Amino acid sequence: MKADVFRRRMRGAAWLPVAVLLAGCEPGAEGGFDRVSWRGEPQVPKAAFPDPPAVTPGTTVGATAARIVATNLPQGVTQAMVDQGQDQFGTVCASCHGQGGAGSPAAPALNDAQWLNITGQYPEIINIINVGVANPKQYPGVMPPKGGGSFDDQQVAAIAAYVYALSHQGGA
Ligand code: HEC
Repeated sequence: MKADVFRRRMRGAAWLPVAVLLAGCEPGAEGGFDRVSWRGEPQVPKAAFPDPPAVTPGTTVGATAARIVATNLPQGVTQAMVDQGQDQFGTVCASCHGQGGAGSPAAPALNDAQWLNITGQYPEIINIINVGVANPKQYPGVMPPKGGGSFDDQQVAAIAAYVYALSHQGGA
């Protein structure tokens, strides 16, 4: 952050004579200066630098994230399972699928109603967590069984409950 500000200052300094010329001596020269230095930034195509996965494997982010309050859960699925699944999602799954299932360059978002390999039904989600994805439809790497973690059936059911809740927000 500090380096960033420093760089911006340096870049700003380089533009100073131009800014002064453009802005003249009118009030509001500050604003003009800012805008000029911003426009001077090199335009780098976003795709050239994909963001790294949001979370390092092994870190727990789910526990601190806001709770999903699920509606229209499938039969036998409880809010307690969704909460438990959220904590476990943060330990392994978030390293590829992003915090809150927001997606990353390694794996698709799970917080919307769009699917690549399944239609989004609860049993399908349980199954794909258990078996992983050996032949991804779009993403470059595979998903190992259980995302490479070791979860028992109850834990997988809870993680699936969380993924179901994530992808059915808004009651759809
Ligand atoms: C090593 C990276 C990685 C980890 C860790 C991982 N996944 Fe995946 N996941 C993927 C990839 C890659 C796909 C398939 C994308 C494709 O088909 O192009 C996928 C697909 C899925 C799908 C199906 C999505 C769809 O649109 O078809 C679900 C659900 C899912 N993962 C849940 C999980 C859960 C839950 C965990 C944690 C237990 C987890 N994943 C851990 C990489 C990962």
